[in-house]
Amino acid sequence: MKRIGILTSGGDAPGMNAAVRSVARKAMDAGLEVFGINYGFAGLVAGDIFQMTSETVADRINTGGTFLYSARYPEFAQVEGQLKGIEQLKKFGIDALVVIGGDGSYHGALRLTEHGYNAVGLPGTIDNDIPYTDFTIGFDTALTTAVDALDKIRDTASSHQRVFVVEVMGRDAGDLALWSGVAAGAEAIVVPEKDYDIKQIAEDLKKGFENGKKHGIIVLAEGVMSSEDFLAELKKHGDFDARANTLGHMQRGGVPTARDRVLASKMGAYAVDLLLDGQGGLAVGMENNQITHHSILDLFDEKHHADLSLYDLNKSLAK
Ligand code: F6P
Repeated sequence: MKRIGILTSGGDAPGMNAAVRSVARKAMDAGLEVFGINYGFAGLVAGDIFQMTSETVADRINTGGTFLYSARYPEFAQVEGQLKGIEQLKKFGIDALVVIGGDGSYHGALRLTEHGYNAVGLPGTIDNDIPYTDFTIGFDTALTTAVDALDKIRDTASSHQRVFVVEVMGRDAGDLALWSGVAAGAEAIVVPEKDYDIKQIAEDLKKGFENGKKHGIIVLAEGVMSSEDFLAELKKHGDFDARANTLGHMQRGGVPTARDRVLASKMGAYAVDLLLDGQGGLAVGMENNQITHHSILDLFDEKHHADLSLYDLNKSLAK
């Protein structure tokens, strides 16, 4: 193996740049040539590929977004798209790849490995919804952003004794809601993994105000419903002075936290080691503070499990 490629795919996540830097520098250190692929699998198919130097990744470790750009590119699920990508890999003499992204990106990595190009996936998504890893790259930063926003909302909520329904990201997973809800001391957390009783939530909010609470903050995972719809439902069960708030894409941006940078750096270097060892079709994770890997196929058979102990913890602390 002489040349490796790197791409970022799917929703961007803070720390992706730190991961790209780690892969590039580690590979160069091992004597490999490194190629950046812009715009994920779309850029691979289009041949938007360039040779990286050590300077290409200078001053990137502390930046948000992905400087390799990203795209959602469902066409890569088709053999036609994959063969076009492989043509480009041949043209640039790239032998193996590191793919940084979420679930969809792993499908692409697996297909390339099946075509004889070893590819290793790194979990880059703010949703934290990848199996076989306790944390994904970007989750810690998005969590910090969400908690910062919730703290600010608490200020205004308390000033007006209001209820706020705050929708945080997480297409299918409640991780951001669970962690940010506990960290911000929310009155209730609503996630797709748990049934909720809106009448009970309304009762608890009323009781809270009667007991002297000055705010009622509900952290809602977007996978359940929108904050506006939830608020409309809630108002059927109480005459609250209430507002809906959606944090949205601000959660995807910003300077990556130190934790995300370290996680990305560890995972990137580990991925290069796997490729140097001639392995592919693998996904890197971090389990019990150790960097690990599993077959991508195993990931497809497993579901991500959000830490629902946080849900119970919050219930007992929010009284
Ligand atoms: O997967 C990350 C994520 O931010 C989800 O939390 C959210 O549902 C989705 O991406 C939004 O996607 P888009 O940026 O394409 O609107």
